[in-house]
Amino acid sequence: MTDVAMGATGGVSLGIPQMPAPDFPADVRARLEADAKEVIARYPGSRSALLPLLHLVQSEEGYVTRTGIRFCAEVLGLTTAEVTAVATFYTMYRRKPSGDYQVGVCTNTLCAVMGGDAIFDELKQHLGVGNDETTEDGKVTLEHIECNAACDFAPVVMINWEFFDNQTPESAKQLVDDLIAGREVRPTRGAPLCTYKETARILAGFPDERPGAVEASGGAGPASLTGLRLHKGETPSRVVTQRAEPDDRPTGGATRAPEEGE
Ligand code: FES
Repeated sequence: MTDVAMGATGGVSLGIPQMPAPDFPADVRARLEADAKEVIARYPGSRSALLPLLHLVQSEEGYVTRTGIRFCAEVLGLTTAEVTAVATFYTMYRRKPSGDYQVGVCTNTLCAVMGGDAIFDELKQHLGVGNDETTEDGKVTLEHIECNAACDFAPVVMINWEFFDNQTPESAKQLVDDLIAGREVRPTRGAPLCTYKETARILAGFPDERPGAVEASGGAGPASLTGLRLHKGETPSRVVTQRAEPDDRPTGGATRAPEEGE
């Protein structure tokens, strides 16, 4: 590849210099190229593979580095400017070294009034970090995030994109303490938690090989299904969000989903 990209315009040079960046070590590069080839083959046009390939390079380094951007540009025939534009648009791509666990506290309207703001403030104090900052041990990156489309379980915390529903400041502190101590943490719904790099590889389109992980993906909770029944004109039983006292919560900081009729 020359230092001037050909872009995705059928070989017409855009005249844009490629961003300088070191390459991956040869063995890593060979492994990632094989993975990238598999991903690209799933799409009719190679540039459609950019989003999963950004997850792929993130799974290697924990965030999207200049090296990762250069790699994506080279294997897809894009400019580094085009890849950078995408990598900086989506919040699921991190641009600096971050923790094994991305702890996102929803502070959008509903979660905020249901306790999301209090959870976020409490975690900042508890962890000694601000928004988008990482604990010194490299375990936890804290951030406030926008609506996760899980408002019926507000306030919601997401760790590496897995849901932890109906949280409180105390349960959220227990969650991060468990993560830092290396204790098992189970999401309220979905597959067991894994590290950010492991999650990024799954998002790149590679199978989750952990026994039972796929089967544990779960489904909609009672609160969500109530909305569906209303939409169908049925009269659902009343659903009241269960916000158990800290002593009643299961270990690992996760809360249980409310049973219908509770
Ligand atoms: S407002 Fe938090 S999930 Fe929608």
